[in-house]
This record gives sequence, C-alpha cells and structure tokens, in this order.
Amino acid sequence: MATYSYGGCIEQAYRVNWKIKDVFGTVDFDLARPWLPPALSGGGGIFCLNPEEKRKLTQVEMGAYAHLFGFVETFIAPLMVDLALDSDGQNPQAFEALTNFASEEVKHMHLFREVGRRVDGKLGFPLELIDGQSEVAHAVLSKNRGAVLLLTAAIEWFTQHHYVSSMNHCDELDPLTREIFRCHWMEEAQHARLDHLEAIRLFRDMTAKEREEAIEDFIWLLAAIDGLLEQQVILDFANLGRHLDRTFTDQERQEILVGLLKAKRHSFIESGVTHPNFLELFLSVTTSAQQARVQGAVGLLLKKHLFH
Ligand SMILES: [Fe+2]
Ligand SMILES: [Fe+2]
Repeated sequence: MATYSYGGCIEQAYRVNWKIKDVFGTVDFDLARPWLPPALSGGGGIFCLNPEEKRKLTQVEMGAYAHLFGFVETFIAPLMVDLALDSDGQNPQAFEALTNFASEEVKHMHLFREVGRRVDGKLGFPLELIDGQSEVAHAVLSKNRGAVLLLTAAIEWFTQHHYVSSMNHCDELDPLTREIFRCHWMEEAQHARLDHLEAIRLFRDMTAKEREEAIEDFIWLLAAIDGLLEQQVILDFANLGRHLDRTFTDQERQEILVGLLKAKRHSFIESGVTHPNFLELFLSVTTSAQQARVQGAVGLLLKKHLFH
C-alpha cells in the first residue's frame, strides 16, 4: 500500500531539483548512436530498414518523443495550479507541493523545446510535428478532473519505465538521451506520487455518478492520446524519409507505420496503464465493473489496425 505524503514529496523535490543547463552539460546528441532505447523505438518490428537506418529512425522518434511530452505537459501544469488552489488554506503542504509541481512541469516543457531545437540542429532540417497544443490542452481540461488525473498519473509513472528502459541492455544509447530520461524521472517521481494523493482525494469526494463520468472520460482521453500518436506517426514517416534521403514502397510504408505506432502506443499508453503503481491507484478508486470497462477499451485501442 502506497504511503506517500505531500511533505515527503516537497522535501524530495527540493533535494533533486535540477537546472536545464545541468541536463545538457557539455554533451550534445551523437548522430553515431541511437537516441531512443530499443523498448521505445519501432525499429525492432520493422524489417525493411537496415541497422543504420534503424539508428536514424530513433533520431526522428526522439524529436517526436520530446514534442509529445511537451504536448501533454501543457495540460498537466494548469491542472496542478487548479488543484493547488483547491488546497489553499486547508493544506499548506499540498499547496506548496502542487505549485512546485506545476513550476517543474513548465521547466520540463522548456527542456523538451530545447531538446527539439537540438534534434533539428543535428539532423539539419526541422522535424514535422503535430500542432494544436493549446486546443488539445483545453479539450483535456474540460473533462472530469478525476479522469485527467488518472491520465496524468499513467503518464508520470511511465517516465520511470522509460528511464529504466534507457538503462537496460542499451550500452550504445546516446548519453544525452540517458541524462534527459534520468533527470525527467527524478522530478516525475514526486509528480506521480502527488497524482496518486490528489486522485485519491478527488475520487473520495465524488458521487457514484461522477465516478462513472470519470471512467467514461478516462477512456475518451486514452483514445484522444492514441489519435495524437497516429498523427505523429504519419509525420515520423515523412521525417524518416527525409533523414534517410530515400523513398519507400507501399508495403514498406505500411510496415514502418505499423511498427512506429506500436512503439508509440507502448511508450505513451501501455507502459502507463500497466505500471504497477498506476494500477495500485486505479484499482483503489474504481469498481471491478469499471476496471473491466477500461481494460476492454484499452485492449481494443492497442489492437486497432490503421494505415490500410
Ligand atoms: Fe515532466
Ligand atoms: Fe510531471
């Protein structure tokens, strides 16, 4: 059973807080290395690319990864400000922890923008990336707050999985990528715990009808994230063609798109909703019927075939 506390989170947050310049230090992306670990890249399932092309694929995927993270953090920061205002006056430690959380998230958005600039600089052309960040944030924030918190918890717990993946069986991984994942997780570790505490608080005060709405909205949000991933995968394919300076047959295109989407779904959906700490939260705020509904919806989403 999780024993997190607002006081513990704020203490740890102040202890590990880093500056953007510390993340980059004196290193830059190295084109001779992969920029994403195998667990987060679609390359493993794509047979029409040779090893060098698969390495270059990770470089365009890293640009998309940074962009998509900045994208989701656009709604997380204002959500935390809102939750901090809820606790103002009643729980000073929660107020401090949540406002600090929002400020760290704004710093992460800045970090990922800088990562994007460096990726473009190294590749020598601007990557094509999805837009509509503020519209998406607005749509997400209009949903049930419990649902948005569940989504946020899934996202923040999967940064742990991404950091661990970057450490395992990938000695050749680009050192800057490793450092970005390490630093991000060090602060996300407190965010994920605060999501847990806030979600428990919100769900405790909800009516049964509001809880049902939260589950419906959570399923809607996961599908919306999947929609964003599909859009980015089409752009990743164009970015890859440009980075490799080659064209593909229809069959190769299909194989690449499917491989890319599978990896993005794993990174941005599956590794969050199956994380044991997310599941601990999810199981404690839902009924077994609601759990079955979400499980069914996620199963369908991950199997959905596209690009035919
Ligand atoms: Fe973050
Ligand atoms: Fe975060």
